Amino acid sequence: MKAEKLQKEKFFVKTFGCQMNVYDSETLVDLFTLQDVELTHNLNEADIIFVNTCSVREKAEQKACSFIGRLQRLKLRNPNLVIAVGGCMGQRMREILVERFPFVDIVVGTDTFYMLPELVRKFRASKRKQVETRFRRDFPRLPLVKRSVAGSVTAMVTIMQGCDNFCTYCIVPYVRGREKSRPSREIIEEINQLTEKGIREVTLLGQNVNSYGLKNGDVTFPELIKLIAGETNLLRLRFTTSHPKDLSEELMKCFRDIEILCHHIHLPVQAGSNKVLKMMNRGYTREEYLKKVKMLRGYCPDIGISSDVMVGFPGEDEEDYQETLNLLEEVRFDTVFSFRYSDRPGTAAAKFPGKVPEEIKAKRLVGLQELQNKITLERNKKLVGTVQEVLVEGISKADDRQLTGRTGDNHIVNFYGSRNLIGKLVPVTIVEAYAHSLKGELLLPQQERYSERENQLVVYR
Ligand code: SAH
Ligand code: SF4
Ligand code: F3S
Repeated sequence: MKAEKLQKEKFFVKTFGCQMNVYDSETLVDLFTLQDVELTHNLNEADIIFVNTCSVREKAEQKACSFIGRLQRLKLRNPNLVIAVGGCMGQRMREILVERFPFVDIVVGTDTFYMLPELVRKFRASKRKQVETRFRRDFPRLPLVKRSVAGSVTAMVTIMQGCDNFCTYCIVPYVRGREKSRPSREIIEEINQLTEKGIREVTLLGQNVNSYGLKNGDVTFPELIKLIAGETNLLRLRFTTSHPKDLSEELMKCFRDIEILCHHIHLPVQAGSNKVLKMMNRGYTREEYLKKVKMLRGYCPDIGISSDVMVGFPGEDEEDYQETLNLLEEVRFDTVFSFRYSDRPGTAAAKFPGKVPEEIKAKRLVGLQELQNKITLERNKKLVGTVQEVLVEGISKADDRQLTGRTGDNHIVNFYGSRNLIGKLVPVTIVEAYAHSLKGELLLPQQERYSERENQLVVYR
């Protein structure tokens, strides 16, 4: 008798939103792989589709909705297809999602996404829609058997969930629940597993990593960084996002003292006017923010600082906006992610008076981006002629003869070099600066300062 060839089931995932969603999607891929369901990048051959969504701005939700809407035709063609929606919209809208998209079979939330394999089974057995969006008080301990990291040099590790800050514009505390920290042991274990698979750089993720451990963890954030430096073989460590109000001097000193910690911090300021910062409930003034930046640069003069800024918050007038521009000129960030304020249902700011018309928001955003692009380019140009330590991440997308990597302060550098340098830290001379990247030349041999860390750095022969 001829053995029938068993076709594995296929799982397709589409991820919107921030890195925490990317991490959750990767975790789900691992969980499905454990159940012998394999990942596909082809929507048409999927048996299970998962859409991991973001609610941070209205536009983000619109994008996810239009993607979900397009799945209906696949369901019509293949009635056995299981369609699941999760992430922050899943958490926010729950049953409403199923009402709006009747072809959606399963809705999971931000704390229950890992239950998806089980919910797929339940759905198939009962043919009843599954909506599971409860919050958990702790971190689920998921099997750490493998991570879908083969061939990668960098990876992310979530260390906290949720947020308790309740900035008045922000949906995250509602859709990600209360702040909780993952036990340090599990984080170390996961990083060790990643380094065994060839990962050289890890970014620790959380909405507000500076408050790691303060509510329910076993160590503080600076202690966690020191533990990771001592107990893993990482070449580089990064983290994001830091809330300015909780940025301690102890953490600033880590940039100076911990060799593997990259000299980069993402420190969202949001606005430059004290009136707006207060209405946002950010918990710091412009002056306090500037003081922290100064202290950071005192401890680590070459630190790269990036930020998030919003325009058009309710009540923001021309003068407030000018103060934001002034702040950008004063700080001179390396990069800024800028957004138009968007009302989020259920947040305090959604009910604030003084809504700024869309045309004004658009104009302010353009003005802000023009200014920041100029600053970014000027800062990039200052790097020309310097030698930077670059972790080679892979082949450049734009030109497959070039390698691409990042400096410690998070600049992308492209340069010619052989593929066996992927995963290595190499010295590169910066020769040209562009708006979003740098062009480099591999620095040839034996520089004294590199031989000190010979086992970690490339030795040229
Ligand atoms: N935890 C991070 C931010 C997460 S959301 C922090 O506190 O910095 C990422 C960015 O989206 C925010 O920094 C903010 O600039 C922007 N954002 C959040 N809510 C928004 C809204 N309602 N409208 C426009 N932008 C928003
Ligand atoms: Fe949102 Fe503020 Fe929490 Fe960041 S700190 S996730 S902006 S509530
Ligand atoms: Fe979006 Fe949720 Fe992240 S709202 S930004 S995916 S935490």
